[in-house]
Amino acid sequence: MKFRYVCVDCGKEYVTDKIIYQCPECASKQKEGEFPRGYLKVIYDNDELRKLSEKDHVSIYDFFPYDIPNKEVYPVGTTPIVVPKRLNEKIGLKNVFCKMDAYLPSGSFKDRASQLIAAQAIAHNEKRIALASTGNAGAAMSCAGAAYGLDIILFVPETAPINKLMQSVLYGATVVPVKGSYDDAFLLSIEYTRHFGGINRNTAYNPMTIEGKKSVSIELFEQLGRKAPDVVYVPVGDGCIISGVYKGFYDLMQAGLIDRIPCIVCAQSEKSNAISMAFETGEFKSISATTRADSISVDIPASGRMAVQYLKTYGGWCTQVSEDEILDAQMTLVHDSGIFVEPASATAWAAMNKDKDMLKERFGEDASICVLLTGIGFKDMAVFDGRVRMPASIENSAQAVIDRFS
Ligand SMILES: Cc1ncc(COP(=O)(O)O)c(C=O)c1O
Repeated sequence: MKFRYVCVDCGKEYVTDKIIYQCPECASKQKEGEFPRGYLKVIYDNDELRKLSEKDHVSIYDFFPYDIPNKEVYPVGTTPIVVPKRLNEKIGLKNVFCKMDAYLPSGSFKDRASQLIAAQAIAHNEKRIALASTGNAGAAMSCAGAAYGLDIILFVPETAPINKLMQSVLYGATVVPVKGSYDDAFLLSIEYTRHFGGINRNTAYNPMTIEGKKSVSIELFEQLGRKAPDVVYVPVGDGCIISGVYKGFYDLMQAGLIDRIPCIVCAQSEKSNAISMAFETGEFKSISATTRADSISVDIPASGRMAVQYLKTYGGWCTQVSEDEILDAQMTLVHDSGIFVEPASATAWAAMNKDKDMLKERFGEDASICVLLTGIGFKDMAVFDGRVRMPASIENSAQAVIDRFS
């Protein structure tokens, strides 16, 4: 579909066939220690979108600015919905369900953005893509790179969980561990593309990342029988996923397929709460993030301004949870529903659990509540050190079995 860009801060529109990242005017007003300015949103003609309302079924590809070549080499989308029945009975909400984006090809939601970025690279005859990542975006882009034959240069904090880094090495990416934070790696990757060229896939910096991530909302709309849920819980660090979730529902509304955007909840750790703070105070200031949920540990959220704008416009809210609540939610999900996710994902469940009484009061016990689960648990097994112990082995004898269970 034909598209143009609009600056999130000043509203100026840009029509171009070139790859662009920021509104130069707003970017020049950037102050140190503040959320980035001048990031762009992709928009379409409403008449074009309206045509989609005539279709009996819409696919995520109907809403994309680039065609996805050879979809079968890197199949992204149509992740299952899991209903954690035993947990729903415990919390007293009948219709909570988990959207399992942890089951995407590289094990995280980030495949949604990487698919569209790969398409952007192929459309522009670019072979090289650089990015920074807390781990999952890097693994996803590296996976897409292996599938499509693209060169991926990945800057990651050296402290990222080893499984995530190793995954990218195995996919064949050039991995550059950085002695610094994710925010440091972000700036270094931009330095790389400035000097050496290629596409930069940094989350939110490249507007196509949010555009790719919106696909989850379009999928949900079809999976729920052509309607939106009442509430969606999203784990938030940079704010790019939540902006994508909003954008998907926004496009569906522009197309005339839904008449309201659901309540979308920004689930954050108390120890990485930059967007929640900005939502409350109106000030877009950096913080010092220290959460164990590494994927959402962000000092300066790249999509912070857009996320807050969406939350304010469409009646969303922020729920912060403690580190213990996150780790308990991870255990509860795996133990009582068979859903095994990394701590960042569990943050969404922890926030929903914290809000449960309010949800019952405001939306009723039958409300349709989606908890977006974004990353698979195998990515970070070290988080269980000191929390879970492997039982001792028994002797290889019948008597040992009898002794063990008597
Ligand atoms: C598993 C997982 N969940 C949630 C997030 C948060 O997404 P965002 O940084 O766009 O807010 C990330 C980001 O890396 C992630 O990997």
